[in-house]
Amino acid sequence: MPRIIFVEHNDTSHCVDAEIGKSLMQTALDQGIPGIDADCGGSCACGTCHVIIEESWQGKLPAAEDEEVTMLDMTPEPQPGSRLSCQVLVTEELDGLILRLPEFQM
Ligand code: FES
Repeated sequence: MPRIIFVEHNDTSHCVDAEIGKSLMQTALDQGIPGIDADCGGSCACGTCHVIIEESWQGKLPAAEDEEVTMLDMTPEPQPGSRLSCQVLVTEELDGLILRLPEFQM
């Protein structure tokens, strides 16, 4: 089972076992990780599941679709590693993925 490391804005980290095929957003919610609101429930319509992928992982994830890119442009302080965690599904290849949570969601 892949392990995903969520790092809060205050540097508190949470290493969790993630189910393959589940989104990073749902993984965070299921594990009680604070900092992801996910107001739209994963429909790529709210931008409140914003995360920042750690630099060494940024080229290893599937590229964001246009809908995700548009929504990311509306998040406060988008960064090069910004993704919507509802749009990234857990795979075996993501074992060890490190992502940071923004200070606040929109
Ligand atoms: Fe709303 Fe991801 S949960 S965009």
